[in-house]
Amino acid sequence: MTEQQARKRVAELRDLIERANRAYYEEARPFISDKEFDMALKELEELEEKFDLQTEDSPTQRVGGTLSNEFPTVRHPEPMLSLDNTYNEEEVRDFDRRVRDLLGSQECSYNAELKFDGAAIRLRYENGRLTLGATRGDGYQGDNITTNLKTISDIPLKLNGKAPEILEVRGEAYMEKEAFVRLNEYREEQGLAPFANPRNSTAGSLKMLDPREVARRPIRFFAFDLSAGSQTPPTQGEKMDYLDRLGFPVCPYHKVCKTIDEVLGTLRQWGDLRHELPYETDGVVVKVNEEHLRPELGNTAKAPRWAMAFKFEAEQATTVIESISLQVGRLGTITPVAELKPVLLAGTTVKRASLHNEDEIRRKDLRPGDTVMVEKAGDIIPQVVSVVNPERSGRPKPFKMPGSCPKCGSELVKLEEEVAWRCLNLECPPQIRERILHFSSRNAMDIEGLGEAVVDQLVHEKLIRTFADLYELSEEQLVPLERMGEKSARNLIDAIEKSKKQGLDRLIFGLGIRHVGRTVARDLASHFHSLETIMKASEEDLLSIDSIGPKIAGSLTSFFSNPKNRELIEKLKNHGLQLEADRIESESDILKGKKVVLTGSLPNWSRKEATEMIEKHGGKTTTSVSKNTDFVLAGESPGSKYDKAVKLGIEILDEKDFRKLIGENETE
Ligand code: IVH
Repeated sequence: MTEQQARKRVAELRDLIERANRAYYEEARPFISDKEFDMALKELEELEEKFDLQTEDSPTQRVGGTLSNEFPTVRHPEPMLSLDNTYNEEEVRDFDRRVRDLLGSQECSYNAELKFDGAAIRLRYENGRLTLGATRGDGYQGDNITTNLKTISDIPLKLNGKAPEILEVRGEAYMEKEAFVRLNEYREEQGLAPFANPRNSTAGSLKMLDPREVARRPIRFFAFDLSAGSQTPPTQGEKMDYLDRLGFPVCPYHKVCKTIDEVLGTLRQWGDLRHELPYETDGVVVKVNEEHLRPELGNTAKAPRWAMAFKFEAEQATTVIESISLQVGRLGTITPVAELKPVLLAGTTVKRASLHNEDEIRRKDLRPGDTVMVEKAGDIIPQVVSVVNPERSGRPKPFKMPGSCPKCGSELVKLEEEVAWRCLNLECPPQIRERILHFSSRNAMDIEGLGEAVVDQLVHEKLIRTFADLYELSEEQLVPLERMGEKSARNLIDAIEKSKKQGLDRLIFGLGIRHVGRTVARDLASHFHSLETIMKASEEDLLSIDSIGPKIAGSLTSFFSNPKNRELIEKLKNHGLQLEADRIESESDILKGKKVVLTGSLPNWSRKEATEMIEKHGGKTTTSVSKNTDFVLAGESPGSKYDKAVKLGIEILDEKDFRKLIGENETE
């Protein structure tokens, strides 16, 4: 490469990186993958070095990110640097050689830790109390988001034991994959644009202006570093234990390794484990374990020389969009979907990916025939990231939403402040189908055996039109259906019959009222005790419930004032469904505010039943064990959660102990 060529390439790379940084940090809408970004940055660094082209304003000299205007700015006592990273083991060995060269004859070990994919946070404690919490910002100064961080229950407001006068903690705010998926489902239901991944969702949530909104977001926290003046423990491994004792959640995956081979072994092991973890990890951070060696090794402009990130390969693949189809949801929302040429991604074959809404397709300029990069968000849901060949010739015109519903032909409308188009025809066949599926789903009436294939046939054969019609079905009507038979027909009728006894909260959720999720349904049931009272409630009455704001109240009153819906409820009542809450059970608050983790199989309860029991008594179940877990309910062959609870000294109950706790006698 000539110097002239190098200059040109450097300019291109700087431009790309600046744009990518803006898209990532300011708009939270990345257009290239992390790996491509890292590769571009690395290429730029190498060219600048080789041709002596460094400038002060090059992105290689900055840590990345910008500040937002809404929060006061705070300067960090020490810069919050980023990490050098690599995707290849040989470069981890190079890192080890560099470290050992610099240290000469001094011994050193490493601490390997998972790298979490969230947002970096700095916390300051004075005499054991949280006084400041900030984002990383540009590395030198960040946003003071103390009030928002105080809403996160993983972050202790007061430390355990005797804390030093000043303690600075660094860590990562993140969102569990499952919680992220649920948050996006909720956003789509509300007509809001979904987040691309848990990391963006966390970063966006932390910068909301209303802390009450932040409190509703499922944000978690892991601590991974601290400084406490004279009391700072001498090694990274001991720092983790100290953080744990102070009351911070510390990820159990950290390990002191004597040699670089041991480090590499750990990297491989954790690489296999990542899909089983409830949160996202994008690699492993290898840190020199001895604190006193850190200053000797020092930092480059943007990263410490005593640490390195080994990144796992991103789960991405390229494929072709064969066509864009339109799906109609339960509430009439039209969702465009990319029909993809099947491709293997993170262990499953992906054939379709939601494109969310029209704006999203325009922004990415996706068109049939395009080769695209797909990725799994939160490791679960496939997403189309970007077009790989935007310059190809003969592309069809940009996507445009049709004026009428693709399934029933009614006119489509776009409601104010929403991104989605909707079909308002309640008789639109896919809406009928989705309403019934929602009604029978696991978290609603939980009717076993009433899956998509059966519902499709029942709707097609005109045997049902509303979910009330389910209760009029007979075995004789079911038997002739495809893949049914007498036994399944009988089981299905039994399951439908059994659903009549489901609690009021499930029924309310099952009605599929816009904006009414499980929590609101539960709050309605425990506050009003009967569907009849809810139907009579004024907006004012409804607004007296914490989880209900004007939007939900409006949605409820409009649902119940619709004569068709009233008729539907009347029918359910005549079929003997339970429209009253079971007061005694849902009112105990023995477990109020308690966080419980389930592991293993219990002798008498399924997982779902146990969860319901916990919730009925005011408790909450969470998926992973942390310092904040109140107790673990463990059954036969429990998993790693059990070990972790033992390690953290968290109380472990078996089913018998638990029944005693909630004042229930054992069933024989
Ligand atoms: S140590 C001097 N440890 O990765 C840098 N960082 O790319 C000290 N991160 O901003 C960081 N998990 O937000 C460290 N176990 C871990 C981490 C971790 C995630 C993030 C951190 C940092 C970014 C650097």
